[in-house]
Amino acid sequence: MRIMVTGAAGQLGGAIVQRFGSAHDVLPLTRGDLDVTREADVARTVAAERPDVIINCTAYNDVDGAEAHAREAFEGNALAVLALARAARDISATLVHYGTDFIFDGLADRPYIESDPPRPASVYGMSKLLGEWFAADASAHYVLRVESLFGGPRARSSVDRIIDAISGGQPVRAFSDRTVTPSYVNDVADATARLLDGRPEPGVYHCVNSGTTTWLGLAEEVERVLGRRADLQPVAVASVPMKAQRPQYCALSNRKLAAAGIPMPTWQDALARYVAGRRQATVTSSGSGN
Ligand SMILES: NC(=O)c1ccc[n+]([C@@H]2O[C@H](COP(=O)([O-])OP(=O)(O)OC[C@H]3O[C@@H](n4cnc5c(N)ncnc54)[C@H](OP(=O)(O)O)[C@@H]3O)[C@@H](O)[C@H]2O)c1
Repeated sequence: MRIMVTGAAGQLGGAIVQRFGSAHDVLPLTRGDLDVTREADVARTVAAERPDVIINCTAYNDVDGAEAHAREAFEGNALAVLALARAARDISATLVHYGTDFIFDGLADRPYIESDPPRPASVYGMSKLLGEWFAADASAHYVLRVESLFGGPRARSSVDRIIDAISGGQPVRAFSDRTVTPSYVNDVADATARLLDGRPEPGVYHCVNSGTTTWLGLAEEVERVLGRRADLQPVAVASVPMKAQRPQYCALSNRKLAAAGIPMPTWQDALARYVAGRRQATVTSSGSGN
């Protein structure tokens, strides 16, 4: 398959390029190659390259910044997806796009399923929801809702910050009352590949690691995996002022994906593999004398 990956230098984009690179003809596009908010450039590039699949990993991800920059958020998270979907439709390509748990209100008492009504409480959430809807303009589309991504090549996620702090003997302040389902980018990339192989019914799928936790629970698991005792300080969501409102309970159920033959590993398993990979990378780079 010929696969165009937009946002190829991002956390997930890097993992997608790596996952598909060896078996497919992959065209990785960074922002410098293609700004997806430029509709005419999107149409021209897609028409010229004629990919079978477009995997869109771009996003305006500044959740707090979006409150004051709604136009940029809607251009990046919604109008850009519309341009990609229409360009994909013109050449009958499949569009894969990634959504977020921030489209939900966070008031649930069980993991959200795909048919739960979206009620975003932030500009970012609204812009991402519109992007999901626009993705359906492609002739075939998959929207994979992910959450709390970690494991990208630049190691800059909240999970990385927790790992780095515990490794360095620093205290960790973590929400004890925010429930999440973290998503390892390599597992999301694998699921994307299996989805494109199996081609279940197009539409929205929750694509997160299995199980739920709080950020404090995740920090405790990092402590266990690293075998280091840490100064973990529980924090309540209500005690931290933030510009954008975030869903407090935002676990997603991936049962629909499992029913399509794509079960997701648990977040604990994903975290252990990621920490082991980071350790291996450290040993390799210090052993190489660089
Ligand atoms: N990170 C999370 O925890 C999380 C949670 C829920 C959903 N998601 C969704 O998952 C997907 C991947 O997120 P991520 O964490 O991998 O994002 P990321 O690391 O911020 O990467 C996004 C990439 O898109 C590029 N980009 C942004 N605007 C662009 C534009 N107009 N044209 C071309 N490229 C552009 C960025 O380039 P620059 O570096 O130059 O800006 C960056 O390389 C997104 O749809 C995101 O909304 C992420």
